[in-house]
This record gives sequence, C-alpha cells and structure tokens, in this order.
Amino acid sequence: MIQVFSNSLGAGELKALKSVFKSKWIGFGRETKIFEKELGKKIGSQRVLALNSCTSGLFMSMKILKLGPGDEVIIPTINFIGTANAVLAAGAKPVFADVDPEYLNILPSQIKKLRTRRTRAIILLHYGGHPCDMDEIYKYTKGLHIIEDSANSPFSKYKGKNCGTLGDIGCFSFDAMKILSVGNGGAIWLKDDALYKRAVEYRYFGLRNKKQSGVDSFKEKKSRWWEIELSCVSNRFIPCDILSSIGRVQLSKVDSFIGRRKQIWKVYQKELSGLYWLTRPPEPLNETRSSYYLYWIRVCPGLRDKLARHLVDNGVYCTFRYFPLHLIKHYKAKQHLPNSEELNQSVLNIPLHQNISDRQVDKIIKVIKRFGSLYC
Ligand SMILES: Cc1ncc(COP(=O)(O)O)c(C=O)c1O
Repeated sequence: MIQVFSNSLGAGELKALKSVFKSKWIGFGRETKIFEKELGKKIGSQRVLALNSCTSGLFMSMKILKLGPGDEVIIPTINFIGTANAVLAAGAKPVFADVDPEYLNILPSQIKKLRTRRTRAIILLHYGGHPCDMDEIYKYTKGLHIIEDSANSPFSKYKGKNCGTLGDIGCFSFDAMKILSVGNGGAIWLKDDALYKRAVEYRYFGLRNKKQSGVDSFKEKKSRWWEIELSCVSNRFIPCDILSSIGRVQLSKVDSFIGRRKQIWKVYQKELSGLYWLTRPPEPLNETRSSYYLYWIRVCPGLRDKLARHLVDNGVYCTFRYFPLHLIKHYKAKQHLPNSEELNQSVLNIPLHQNISDRQVDKIIKVIKRFGSLYC
C-alpha cells in the first residue's frame, strides 16, 4: 500500500541518537535548547519553545492568553480535533466557521458573521500547507487574538513571513505523520516577550521562570537549591533531548522533503488536469509558499467513497483530513456549514510525501484515471 503520510529517518538521526545516549542526559537539556535555536532561525524568530506535541501548544495557548468560561473562540470546522478540545478544556466555547471550498481555509467573511462581544480569539489552520489569506483575515480580527495551528504549514510563508509567526501564538507539530517528524513533538511560537515568559512557565508545571528545577537553583549557588515556587498551575509539556536530537537532523533535511513534495504536487497538477469529474486543489495564493503537506482532490459526492475504495483496493491509501468538527455529536454544535458539509462528502487526500517514487506517482495517477474510465 502506498501510504498517505511517511517519514524519512535514517543514519543521520541514528548517529545523533547515539551521541545523546552516550551523554547520559536524555531528558530536557542541551539538544533541546539547540533545536529551539535552529528552529527559531528557520522560522525567523527566536521566541519559540520546543514541546512534546502540537496539541500541548494548543492547550497551553488558551492558558497563556487567559481564555476561559464566557469566552468564544472561532475555529474552522475542517480541523484537527485537538483544537476544539483545547478550547473546551479551557472552559471556553468553540464556534465553528465554514471554509473556502477550494482552499479549505477559513472564510474570512465567516469571522465577521460569527464574531460576537464574547469572541476573544481565532485559531487558524493553513490547510494542507497553503497559507490563509491573512490580509483578508486581519480585516476582521482587530482586537482578537490569533492562534495559528501550523501543523500543516511548518515552513510555509505568507509575504515572506513564516506561518506560525503571523499572529499572537503559533503551534507546530513534529509527530509521526508530519513533514518534520520526531515521533512525538511540537513547538510554540510567541509574539512578544511577555507571552514567551508565560509559555516558559506553562510548559513546565507553572514553575517560575529560571527556577524550573533544582539544578537551575544549584547553578545559581542557592543554599537550598531544592526549594521551588509556582507562578501558576500547569501540566508538563517539555520535550526530551532524544527527540530533539532527531529534530535537529530532520531540520537540516526538511527543505529537501518539501522540495520533493512540491515536485510530486506539480506532477499531480499536470497529470490530473482535464478530468471533468475531478477538481484539483488550487495553487498557493500569490506571495505565499506552501509546505505541500496534503494533496486534495474533489469529486462529486456520489463518487467519493467509491473512488476511495477503488484506490485502497489498488494499493493506494487515501483519507480525508479533517472531518468537520461541528458534525461531532459530542460537541453539540448544532450549526449548518454548507461548504464544509459538501467537502466532507467530496474530498479525498491522496499520498503526498517525500518517499513516493516517480513510479509510485505514475501508479497513483493511473489508478485514478482508470477509475474515471470505469465509472465516470
Ligand atoms: C492540523 C493539526 N493540528 C494539530 C495536530 C496535533 O499535533 P500533535 O500530534 O503534535 O499533537 C495535528 C495532528 O495530526 C494536526 O493535523
């Protein structure tokens, strides 16, 4: 089966692991701090902290921005489940927004429509790696916090700025299915020093900055280095040096991963053009750069599930990211969002990652075209 997601871990990562094992320090330490510096350089800002997941970043953002009961947070419904969970866990209310039928990014007009006096923030997703139209979004978000979920768009750019650094807080994922993969990991970017300081505390139990551990106090020559104090109450969201050492090697290779993804994207765009029954995804907006995380095709609703079965039966895995959150019964959303509901019946993600060979790309295209000749 050709997978939809894959990772590229090899000799470089093993070598880095070996050196961490040898150092006898496998927890949060030197490798993580260097990884943060290198990541900061890559995204153009040093106010970034490595985490154990992107979901941790989403949960932390609620606390950092002091969002809670009585507050509403607008989120596009075609989205990862952790986003709505983070809002609800904070006691706030997620308000689901419809998306653009081509880009699957939030419709800026929805922000205007859904915004109330209770709205405090918006969580954006740059679907598939294609940046949202931020200038349009900024028109409707004055006075609101912007949190970017940059899990799909780790190195996408909007007018020269890295996605994840376009609002107040940006969350990145390095989990097993992401472009830069360490197994489980993530990062959070903060717009200013005050937010950064709060993030440092929320990342580790709420312990006061610079007194994160007995070791720090020891270095500061305190006589009782085991004494601690809290600023707030939080969970433990730190990563470890084992994973950060992998992250550093992945970071040095990630441009080539994205380059290969773009090549495959281009072949799909060329070879799948002119099929009257299939709509290809749009190119990234002008003055933007995509990370090419997903490739999404649209067919008419009656055909989609049949095409999915045909692909899987012929060795090509496919899926749909992301099931509209307002349709999850547990959230009791009671909203009707027509574009997203139609997309939920018509979109499929086909494999797009750096490990797909040219032969596999040909195969995927042939399998899709064969479906057309059989059923359309
Ligand atoms: C859009 C999006 N946001 C956030 C996450 C959460 O990432 P993590 O697995 O690092 O918590 C995912 C994971 O699939 C995702 O797809």
